[in-house]
Amino acid sequence: FNEKDQDLINLNTQAAEIFTHLLLNTDLSTEALKYLVETRKLDRATITEFQLGFLPSSWSLHDFFDEKKIPVEIQLASGIISQYDDGSFHDVFSNRIMFPLKDSYGNIVGFSGRTLDKANSAKYINSKETAVFKKSQLLYHFDVAKQAAKLSQHLILLEGYLDVIAAHKVGIDYGVASMGTSLTKDQLQLISRNSPTLTIAYDGDSAGQNATWRAIEEAKKFPHLQLEIVTIPDKKDPDEYLQAKGPAALKQIFEEDSTSINDFAFEYLKQNRNLENPANLSDYTNDLLKFLGSHSNPIANDLTLKKLSDQFGLSRSVLDQSLKQVTAPD
Ligand code: GTP
Ligand code: MN
Ligand code: MN
Ligand code: MN
Ligand code: MN
Repeated sequence: FNEKDQDLINLNTQAAEIFTHLLLNTDLSTEALKYLVETRKLDRATITEFQLGFLPSSWSLHDFFDEKKIPVEIQLASGIISQYDDGSFHDVFSNRIMFPLKDSYGNIVGFSGRTLDKANSAKYINSKETAVFKKSQLLYHFDVAKQAAKLSQHLILLEGYLDVIAAHKVGIDYGVASMGTSLTKDQLQLISRNSPTLTIAYDGDSAGQNATWRAIEEAKKFPHLQLEIVTIPDKKDPDEYLQAKGPAALKQIFEEDSTSINDFAFEYLKQNRNLENPANLSDYTNDLLKFLGSHSNPIANDLTLKKLSDQFGLSRSVLDQSLKQVTAPD
């Protein structure tokens, strides 16, 4: 890091400390703390471990930084203080629960803030991109997860911060989240350098399943990374599933109920199709064959072709031939 980058990290680190202090030790954060403890079932130890915090609306981070003699240019460069057109300063994350975002080495490079207000259209907002915060190159909790992956040989990719924390609650520390963006090449590079296997466990709702499909498409470009897919039942996300079914159920899903990408594709591509209609069945089969042809795992593909043939009464030799056609170069 150059000096300017280090200034931003120092500022973020001080901000995170004060956010946690304000959340846990002052009566300005009663509502936020009650929300985290009672509604989200987080205890003080977990809040402290993940360095969660709160920025009360009655408090001014900008004044705090001024008192600490932090130059206003650095405050503005951090993206957590902003300036109105009239020149006055304000706190970007006012009245939000704060999640520090760290680089692979544990430096706090930015924040995500969750609103408490259900009517607020932006549930989460992130720090703007800075010299040290590039959202597409980071994974939430990666600094801890990469260590845990040395033992588990797995990383689990989740959608949200609280899903990562849910995994932690059931003893799984190799969870990471891609922070609301689709999975990028840089993130996959981080993953594949630190774990032989990636388990994708996005939300069980349709947005999460669509995101899973896109993540598989991207991850296939890393042929040495072995992929497993977890579909959370009842359209829930992992945190909701934990609350509904308890820790043993979530742990089981993560550790024992993963399926192959072929099995995921087999079900996913059925969506919005009436497979009793021959035209629909033919489209479905072609899409699935295209998927099978897009990666090379002959044994897995053999099993999927057998399932396809058995389930729909399709001729295995025709399927084999069609797969060859899809994979043949034009
Ligand atoms: P909780 O209600 O706190 O449990 O959120 P969630 O993590 O379940 O959120 P959701 O499944 O809707 O979205 C997954 C992730 O996308 C979140 O953890 C955020 O990183 C991101 N995200 C969600 N809503 C927004 C938003 O309004 N703006 C931005 N920038 N990111 C969002
Ligand atoms: Mn496994
Ligand atoms: Mn979601
Ligand atoms: Mn979710
Ligand atoms: Mn959630």
